Formats: sequence, C-alpha cells, structure tokens
Amino acid sequence: MKKQFAALILAVLPIFAFANTAAEPVLDRVDIDLTDKAAMQDGARTFANYCMGCHSAKFQRYERVAKDLGIPEDLVLSRLAFTGAKIGDHMDIGMRPADAKVWFGAPPPDLTLVARVRGTDWVYTYLRSFYEDPKRPWGVNNVVFPNVGMPNVLGSLQGRQVIGCKQVQVVEHGKKQFDPLTGTPLTHEACDQLTVLPKTGTLNEAQFDEKVKNLVTFLAYSADPNKLESQRIGAYVLLYLAFFFVFAYLLKREYWKDVH
Ligand code: HEC
Repeated sequence: MKKQFAALILAVLPIFAFANTAAEPVLDRVDIDLTDKAAMQDGARTFANYCMGCHSAKFQRYERVAKDLGIPEDLVLSRLAFTGAKIGDHMDIGMRPADAKVWFGAPPPDLTLVARVRGTDWVYTYLRSFYEDPKRPWGVNNVVFPNVGMPNVLGSLQGRQVIGCKQVQVVEHGKKQFDPLTGTPLTHEACDQLTVLPKTGTLNEAQFDEKVKNLVTFLAYSADPNKLESQRIGAYVLLYLAFFFVFAYLLKREYWKDVH
C-alpha cells in the first residue's frame, strides 16, 4: 500500500511542476544539425566534463558514441569516461540517488532522453538562463525552471548572469520597431531581463551559445541515435517508390493499350 501511495504521489508530482510555471517563459530557438560530428564531439566532451558528475546517460554505451561520432575508442575512454568504465559499459555514474536527493533536494535525472522529453529549445534555453539569486541554496535560480535544484555548472564559462530591468527594443509581429521619423530603435523598459556581467566568464556570448548548442546537439543525438540511420533508409524508400511508380505506370499503359 505504501508503495502504491508513493507511486501515486510520483505520478501527480509533474502536475505541480507544471502548475509552477504559470507564465510560460519564451524559449530561444536552436537549430541543431545531427550530421555535424565536430559539434557532437565537442558536446560529448562538455557533457563528460561538466554534467556526468551528477547526471548519467545510462541508455547510451561508450562504444556506440565512439562509433557514431567517429571518435577512436581509446580516446572515448580517456576523455569521456572517468570512472574506470569499459568501452561496452553504459554511460552511468557513481552517485547514489539517495545521496543526490540530500545534496540537491532533487536527484539529477538521467539525461539520455531529455532532449526528446523537454525539447531541444527548452534544454538550450535552460542551460543559458541561470541567474544570481542569493536566496537559493546554490546562489542561482533559473528563468525556465524556477527554484531549480541544480547549480549553474557552466557559470565559469558564461560568466555571472543577473536578472533585472533594462531597455529593450520594441518587437511587434516578430519585427523590431524603429521610430518612423528618426529611424532610431523604439525601446521600452522590460524586467526579467538577463544580463551577463562583462568579463566574468572565460567565453564571450557567441562562444558560450555555440558551446551550449553543441552540448544540446549531443543530447539530441543521444535521445535518438537511430535518427540519422532512419533518415538514410527513408531516402532509399522514397527512391524505391519513385522507381516503382514508373514501372507501375508503364505496366498500366501496356494493359490499357487495347482497351482504348
Ligand atoms: C552538481 C550536480 C549537477 C551537475 C554537475 C549538473 N546538473 Fe543538471 N541537474 C542537477 C539536479 C539536482 C537537477 C534536478 C533539479 C530539480 O529538479 O530541481 C538537474 C536538472 C537538470 C535538467 C532538467 C531535467 C528535467 O527534465 O527536469 C537538465 C536538462 C540538466 N540538469 C542538464 C544538465 C547538463 C546539460 C549539465 C552539464 C552541463 C548538468 N545538468 C550538470 C544537478 C546537476
């Protein structure tokens, strides 16, 4: 009974999680390219260095990553696996969920499928939306995941990000607005705006966005490693259908020749 009760609580928890985010934050769009192996290799490295302390990707094997991303197996083991893992092992980690719960309030979920569950835009925006908030245990909060239990692990790269009011350009129907007389941008004061304090991170804004994009590309790959393969097979199927259509048409013409 106790177990069933716990299961019930777990089943309704997500409802509260969603109820929390009453005003849906605007997500930044990210265009990822699942054929860009360099991007995925960079993303895999970031994932191993910055995320696998807490998150596993346990439905994924090192061997498969090596093969799909074109990284030699010994490099995968020396650069991506730190726990003495073997090439056939899953990308699992040593942290026990019970400990994690005590440390972070919530266990860090497995990330193999997160790009599919949350969407790539969400993950991309989430990782770039931590801001300083002294009221939180790790000193940070997050715009798309209010009161998150995760520290800002990419903070040293991005720099210190703060939230506040600032002048932003007016946008109507997706178009930036300008004063018709002077041509100067029309602005208004908006709050909940994120700003990175200059020179506080090791990467500039464009470099940081690229880093996160590569990481999200790797996560998108890991959520659906067969996607590339399906696209390749899909192309053959279409080719076959086109080919078959020509023959079917010629055959039809042949059969109906004498009828007309
Ligand atoms: C120090 C531990 C720690 C590290 C390192 C860490 N995270 Fe997290 N992460 C967490 C915790 C804890 C949560 C759960 C937060 C909550 O539920 O409040 C979380 C949640 C998340 C979520 C939200 C998952 C969901 O669907 O709810 C994503 C996405 C995520 N982390 C991605 C990353 C990525 C990518 C990295 C590496 C750049 C990373 N994390 C590094 C602790 C960590």
